[in-house]
Amino acid sequence: MSENNFYECKTKSNLVTYMINKIHETEESKWNDFLDMSLFLISIEDFVLEPKLTKLINTFDCQNKLAIYRYKPNFCYQWHIDSIRNCALNLQLIGSDSFCIFGEFFEARKLKNLEKLLYKEQTYYLLNVNKHHSVFNFNNDRYLLSIGFPKPHTFADVKQYLVDNNI
Ligand SMILES: [Fe+2]
Repeated sequence: MSENNFYECKTKSNLVTYMINKIHETEESKWNDFLDMSLFLISIEDFVLEPKLTKLINTFDCQNKLAIYRYKPNFCYQWHIDSIRNCALNLQLIGSDSFCIFGEFFEARKLKNLEKLLYKEQTYYLLNVNKHHSVFNFNNDRYLLSIGFPKPHTFADVKQYLVDNNI
């Protein structure tokens, strides 16, 4: 297990019910296709129940990187590294059997240090998406709240902030 793949936050989320209501209220036309997923953007006002995250979003200039993602059932998002961000703070809203795997390629199809992230309920995770990762989704639509941290912010920087601020 590596401390550099992801970090589990200590504070439980206050936002799950609010965000699930938002999913139900959002018309299909508001969802945007993105790769093999869909997403809609949310705003910093949607974080009013979570003042510590409002401060974090302002500190790291994430105001335009706030979104809810939807992954299709029976879906695998292949091994990749995110291009526009080094790390993301995620909260899984619906889809409890889905998971993410981190690993390091040392040959074309050989990996070492595989590690599975199975999201706990109401729990934020900081993911180091600058490392190879893959997402598996089973029978249900999976919904995920994600705060992206624009480069050059790094996993180490944001993790330190979360620790220092008891998040
Ligand atoms: Fe990713």
